[in-house]
Amino acid sequence: MARRGKVSVIGAGFYGSTTALRLAEYDIFETVVLTDVVEGKPEGLALDLNQSRWIEGFETKLIGQTTGPNGEGYEMIAGSEIVIITAGLPRKPGMSRMDLIETNAKIMRSVAENIAKHAPGAIVINVANPLDEMTALAQLVTGFPFQRVIGQAGMLDTARFTHFVAEELNVPVASVTTLTLGSHGDTMVPVASACSVDGKPLADLLSADKIEELVVRTRNGGAEVVALLKTGSAYYAPSAAAARMAKAVIEDSGAVMPVCAWVDGEYGISGVYLGVEAEIGRQGVRKVVEGDLSESELAGLRDAAEAVRAKQADIADL
Ligand code: LAC
Repeated sequence: MARRGKVSVIGAGFYGSTTALRLAEYDIFETVVLTDVVEGKPEGLALDLNQSRWIEGFETKLIGQTTGPNGEGYEMIAGSEIVIITAGLPRKPGMSRMDLIETNAKIMRSVAENIAKHAPGAIVINVANPLDEMTALAQLVTGFPFQRVIGQAGMLDTARFTHFVAEELNVPVASVTTLTLGSHGDTMVPVASACSVDGKPLADLLSADKIEELVVRTRNGGAEVVALLKTGSAYYAPSAAAARMAKAVIEDSGAVMPVCAWVDGEYGISGVYLGVEAEIGRQGVRKVVEGDLSESELAGLRDAAEAVRAKQADIADL
């Protein structure tokens, strides 16, 4: 089997290390680089992951690399086709994703500068929160074209929505189609009109109240996990989402996925990073795909755009 390319994961917390595990187990990359500022942690995790290769049957090699405060060690990401940014603090119970903005903006600036320096041709996938704002900051600091900087959130939120619908109706997740757009936050827009089970509209299968309950649970999907874990936030579903995006990039698959992408005219919205469906390939976002939305969903998407736009203007100074 042909393996190609290098993908680097910045940050070896649970999100980063689980993402590295998933990428390695796909067995489609030559190399997965995992970095962290905690001395020895990425090297130790990479060694441990490499030792699982024989059991799990993958040949992709993992390289761990500690990075220093002045960018020491970042040369290891040179030549990466894809860099996934997971560095940043996760939420604690009761915190909103927005509460992380100042701390994570500082981390993002330093990470993005080093990506621009050492992996100038990479597609960047950001997962740090607040998601839409940190994705915008990653683009601003790297100076990369908009289509090469994307954020992971829509895949995760959609996966959560799908799980809740499947659980409610006691059907396989594979029979369920859902969609979530907007921000990865309070202005998330779970698109009930795009939801179906085996092709039947969700509205024919569940009451409006029940759908609204699942929509609310989806919007609070991250916080529900944080409240249970008490330390840290979700990482199994989030890493699955980020890894699938990287797979679509390296395979140039053209898969249409809900992601955080630069919106430039679609839905009558311009100049903002927002959760939309996009075709993903080797150059990042090939194009944003506009779907049919109800009036209220479109209004929700526009509200999300304005909320992100306001915060996006602030991040330039953080
Ligand atoms: C979540 C975090 C990762 O939604 O944003 O779980």
